[in-house]
Amino acid sequence: MTTISRKVFTLDEFTIQQLRMFPHATGELSGLLRDIGLAAKRVNVEVNKAGLVDILGDAGSTNVQGEDVKKLDVFANNHIMGALRHGISCAGVASEEMDSFIAFDDDVSRQSKYVCLFDPLDGSSNIDVNVSIGTIFSVYRRATAKGTIADESDFLQPGVKQVAAGYIVYGSSTMLVYATRRGVNGFTLDPSIGEFCLSHPDMKCPASGQIYSINYGNLNIYPDGVKRYIKHCEDKSASNGGTYTQRYIGSMVADVHRNLIKGGIFMYPGTTARPEGKLRLQYECNPFAFIIEVAGGKATDGSQRILDLIPRSLHQRSPLFIGSKTMMEELLNCLNTNGGPPQRG
Ligand code: AHG
Repeated sequence: MTTISRKVFTLDEFTIQQLRMFPHATGELSGLLRDIGLAAKRVNVEVNKAGLVDILGDAGSTNVQGEDVKKLDVFANNHIMGALRHGISCAGVASEEMDSFIAFDDDVSRQSKYVCLFDPLDGSSNIDVNVSIGTIFSVYRRATAKGTIADESDFLQPGVKQVAAGYIVYGSSTMLVYATRRGVNGFTLDPSIGEFCLSHPDMKCPASGQIYSINYGNLNIYPDGVKRYIKHCEDKSASNGGTYTQRYIGSMVADVHRNLIKGGIFMYPGTTARPEGKLRLQYECNPFAFIIEVAGGKATDGSQRILDLIPRSLHQRSPLFIGSKTMMEELLNCLNTNGGPPQRG
């Protein structure tokens, strides 16, 4: 009889093991990840019973971007903020659901090293139809001095300054994936023990992929370079004897998570109506750009690396193209070709 004796690391065990490799580390980042993991477990419980209880539906208010706020958004926002406020590692938070950042003004928080930005429930328009949704987070070392109250400069740092970034996908199973400069690791929630367990160590985004993810309905209002790339993908698709295939869930966490594992490209370009696109630089683009770059892929707004963009405001939007290295290079070729509109049909 074969005995399986593989050690399964929980999220806490793993972050502590990583911490032990740095003799001068204070454990604050591990603590912050533990706080996020705890909040994620609470959000997960509510997401899983969304169809059963009266938490489903609009909270009756709109967020700063004028979009409907769902009750679960509010729940997730409050729980993540609460976990970070009561931890010892975070000097303040900014959230996609809040107009402004919140600096935690107490003795412990003022001494904390990090600030955290998050989108508590991305893809929330999918809640009502049981499609995977997610939480996205981003961790920066604060720009202001320890001992002071965090201010806006802490939250308007370019993505390249991120110390860690991650997401939780509430899907067929619940996974927490986070990246530091050392690598990307994925943890699946084991409901029997209520712990995130290391299931996807050292994740790499395949250099070449076959999946292109984009909202095809906007085709006519995309820039010509994007149309050229879509035509390029169609030319390489099964109907033309190739292997490319199109997949679009409309829930970025799920779309990018799938592409990270299988290889692919996710695009949310600007349109003639909205040149900046839809996605938020600080809450959606930067954390995923960090994760995908650490995993070996690339992320751009079409002309610049996402991580180099200097944020001007907390809620600014950016076009996003992100994914497998080879597909991103093909995309950049199409974007940089000054050959006029693509020949279709
Ligand atoms: P929301 O949280 O309002 O549902 O937005 C989700 C985001 C992102 O997750 C997804 O990829 C994108 O919006 C989908 O937008 P389109 O419907 O315009 O394609």
